[in-house]
Amino acid sequence: MLPTIEWNDEGVVMIDQRKLPGAEVYVTCKSPKEVARAIKTMVIRGAPAIGVAAAMGLALGVRSSKATGTQKLATEFYRVCEVMAATRPTAVNLFWAIDRMKRVFAESAGAGQSVDQIKVRLESEARMIHDEDVASCRAMGAHGATLVPETARVLTHCNAGALATAGYGTALGVIRGAVELGKKVVVMADETRPFLQGARLTAWELTRDGIDTTVITDNMSGAIMRAGEIDLVVVGADRIAANGDVANKIGTYTVAVLAKEHGIPFYVAAPISTIDLATPDGSTIPIEERNAREVTHVGPTRITPAAAHVRNPAFDVTPNRYVTAIITERGIARAPYFVSLKDLVTLEP
Ligand code: MRU
Repeated sequence: MLPTIEWNDEGVVMIDQRKLPGAEVYVTCKSPKEVARAIKTMVIRGAPAIGVAAAMGLALGVRSSKATGTQKLATEFYRVCEVMAATRPTAVNLFWAIDRMKRVFAESAGAGQSVDQIKVRLESEARMIHDEDVASCRAMGAHGATLVPETARVLTHCNAGALATAGYGTALGVIRGAVELGKKVVVMADETRPFLQGARLTAWELTRDGIDTTVITDNMSGAIMRAGEIDLVVVGADRIAANGDVANKIGTYTVAVLAKEHGIPFYVAAPISTIDLATPDGSTIPIEERNAREVTHVGPTRITPAAAHVRNPAFDVTPNRYVTAIITERGIARAPYFVSLKDLVTLEP
């Protein structure tokens, strides 16, 4: 399976997603600062992958600390947590992973463990977050595959695949799960302007797996749905509010509205760590606004007049009424989501 992110003796190794599909380059982050920078600059991206990277970054920070006492180690650790939390605001998996690492630190320190023991404990927690993510993608894939007809033309937006997780993927995990069951699946991948996660990453990882993939520009999906060429839509999520409103890559909302208009099921696949019960609805989900250059330029070439204003919100919110079902590793949630999501989150794993 494609290694998106790995922990080794030198640091945290990631495939540089900015360079795909042109080049397969691996970078090794040797400090938490480098991990934070990698998240911010999209070397690694996708909600679950960002969470895994942050956890590994925190473990790395503690591992390289020269602190001899727990107090000093704690001061350094919490400072690094802040740096990590300031990288990207929308994907709740980032904050979920930081909170989990904080809990482990507090428990270990509270139990009187030594600096060395805390280091070992945090490293093993980060590895666990990684491995659990792969397992939850596979479980999601198995649940989601039951929703895919024997022959299906599936539209997806952005990249919610192996590259966006520790492996296998959420939305693309559902596609992989269906293919593993022997279903005949072909995929339409929205290119996903401006960062082109669909054209560059989804198309790359699916074709690498031998899955039939057609790239379309974002503005083509309506006409293609109207022509009857899509059987279902499946996308990932960066944060799901308690009422089932879904924040995901900009353009997801447009696809969801179009799917409803054409009577096409619109599924969201995401791990429990993406569900944010503390956020009642989508209206308060922070939406990252990225650098205008992503819109004004294609590669080194400017494509807009210098005098034009530019907007670049990286995510949008799809109201729950457009969501047919939410696929998680613990099962499939349907409306009313404020009940079904709470049930899944509180279910014993
Ligand atoms: O800006 P990105 O590339 O991090 O955005 C990624 C997405 O929007 C994905 O769809 C989402 O994180 C789900 S990934 C399993």
